[in-house]
Amino acid sequence: MSQNSMSLKTLLDNRHSVRSFLQKPVEAELIKSIFQQAQKSASNCNVQPWQTYVVSGDTRANLEKALMTKLMTDPTPAPEFDWTPRYQDKHRDRQFGSANALYTAMDIKREDKQARQMAMAKNWQFFGAPHAVFFCMEKYLGIMGAVDVGIYAQNVSLLLEEAGISSCMQGALGQFPIEVKEALKIPESMGILFGMSFGYAKPDADANKTRTERVDLDESVLFFE
Ligand SMILES: Cc1cc2nc3c(=O)[nH]c(=O)nc-3n(C[C@H](O)[C@H](O)[C@H](O)COP(=O)(O)O)c2cc1C
Repeated sequence: MSQNSMSLKTLLDNRHSVRSFLQKPVEAELIKSIFQQAQKSASNCNVQPWQTYVVSGDTRANLEKALMTKLMTDPTPAPEFDWTPRYQDKHRDRQFGSANALYTAMDIKREDKQARQMAMAKNWQFFGAPHAVFFCMEKYLGIMGAVDVGIYAQNVSLLLEEAGISSCMQGALGQFPIEVKEALKIPESMGILFGMSFGYAKPDADANKTRTERVDLDESVLFFE
């Protein structure tokens, strides 16, 4: 660990989803070094199933256009993996809690459907971030591959945080795979699990004031001796 590195504890404390970004690209070499480091992620049998597509510049801009066109013409999601469970009970409560945290920060009333939809649409504009990443894997891999890709994506987000770069993981970026796969020439056998927008956070943006809570430890973890 270099002397300036933040501890993992501090990174976990500081990281939160950011949904408004400065129009300031991250240096290409820095992006590359972060993904280089994330290659160290553990995976089942070391199969390293992540296939990662990072978009910036014109590619990102054209993809945003394609996704917005899709959203305006045929917004039916078509994810390649069984992605959106109907959350039940306490999970449903927590789902509402996170949406509520975002809409409260943005001063959007629960009944203001249009404002909520506009906020939702920003997902496919990458929340204004100059970069986005699509986390993919061969579709046949199923749940074990998804576990590995999740671990990898978390490492990416913490490495970004360590470099002062903010991010938001987005299931939404897996909802219109046809447009993304066409733009990035992603093979048919590969599926998009989810994505993540990243860049430098816009300070003081309402959306970035969103903070979520976590349940008490004893609700999640049981210790046996
Ligand atoms: C796999 C995954 C998918 C997510 N999808 C979205 C999304 O599509 N849009 C969004 O705004 N946030 C998305 N999030 C962000 C979560 O809402 C956020 O992580 C959660 O509310 C906890 O807040 P925090 O990240 O600020 O700690 C996603 C997070 C994860 C891990």
